[in-house]
Amino acid sequence: MYSRRKFLTTTALATAGLGLAACRDAAQAGAAGTTPPAVTAPTSSTDAVLGALNTRAIPSTGERVPVIGMGTSGSFEVGQTAAELDPLREVLKRFFAAGATLIDTAPTYSVAEDVMGALLAEQQLTGTAWLATKLSGVSGRDAGIEQFEDTLRRLKTDKVALLQVHNLGDLKTQMTVARELKAQGKVKYVGVTHYVERAQDELADVVQAEKPDFLQINYSVVSRGAEKRVLPLAQDLGVAVLINRAFEDGKLFAQVKDKPVPPALTETGVSSWAQAFLKFALSHPAVTAVIPATGKPDRQTDNLKAGTGPDLTPAQRDALIAALA
Ligand SMILES: NC(=O)c1ccc[n+]([C@@H]2O[C@H](COP(=O)([O-])OP(=O)(O)OC[C@H]3O[C@@H](n4cnc5c(N)ncnc54)[C@H](OP(=O)(O)O)[C@@H]3O)[C@@H](O)[C@H]2O)c1
Repeated sequence: MYSRRKFLTTTALATAGLGLAACRDAAQAGAAGTTPPAVTAPTSSTDAVLGALNTRAIPSTGERVPVIGMGTSGSFEVGQTAAELDPLREVLKRFFAAGATLIDTAPTYSVAEDVMGALLAEQQLTGTAWLATKLSGVSGRDAGIEQFEDTLRRLKTDKVALLQVHNLGDLKTQMTVARELKAQGKVKYVGVTHYVERAQDELADVVQAEKPDFLQINYSVVSRGAEKRVLPLAQDLGVAVLINRAFEDGKLFAQVKDKPVPPALTETGVSSWAQAFLKFALSHPAVTAVIPATGKPDRQTDNLKAGTGPDLTPAQRDALIAALA
């Protein structure tokens, strides 16, 4: 595996060649004695995501997941009209057509679990989706179990891939609940999440103590605090990492406005700011997948493209950081 020391060295010494995670993927594949499975690309020209989506291994099991997932906060918190649901149908269609599967949601994202559950069932995709949800805003064992049972009902499933303790709330009790559900086979992985830099030290302490399968944290080209402790720790302990807020909840797009994507990135096929921001997160060696949220089909296609081809080189990362400075 690509080491943290090497990451720190090579980010300082910009070099040409393959991206960091591409090196790590090759190392992981070699270590496992297998070739990463290529995900079949779609055939429709409107849905086309060129090339196969990259996948990465979950350290605790070796299961591989596509590097582009999706969030549901805001984007799936909608009403029941066709005008609101039709774009989401297309967002999901393009997502699965590209070979993506990882969907992050939470019972406290108002109706997001209901909307996602209904649309997946309608398209017969419930069994294909790699569903991540949370124990969120609850206190006590009974409340945690009750919320999870309700989540299963809303998502129209009898199990999920990942159950995360949201924002470290009622941590000890909810981690115990999550582990019990894992033992019962209703959950495959357990995790912890947060979304602000000021919580990252506490999150690192929790990761150290609990050694969950996953952690989910914010990381972007302008919020790089996770590089200091929590991401290296996850890498050392073999904890998979999901990145939220890679677009700073959309604020990064306003920051770059009409500025062009740096040539250092476009010359290797990065054709939008969204791809640049997602590839930035994915080029940290601790990161397993990103979960950008959109309710717009063309933006979904754009985001999916970030999961193809090599990750950013150290020089490209530096060019992006400079462009946003
Ligand atoms: N504590 C936690 O566990 C926690 C906290 C925060 C987030 N999360 C998870 O992480 C997910 C992602 O975070 P987030 O939703 O807060 O923020 P984000 O993914 O950084 O940004 C989402 C925003 O970016 C816009 N966007 C998406 N793709 C775009 C593109 N290609 N071009 C231009 N604009 C684009 C979206 O607008 P449109 O919808 O209009 O396209 C939306 O306003 C959440 O949905 C949630 O699942 C978890």
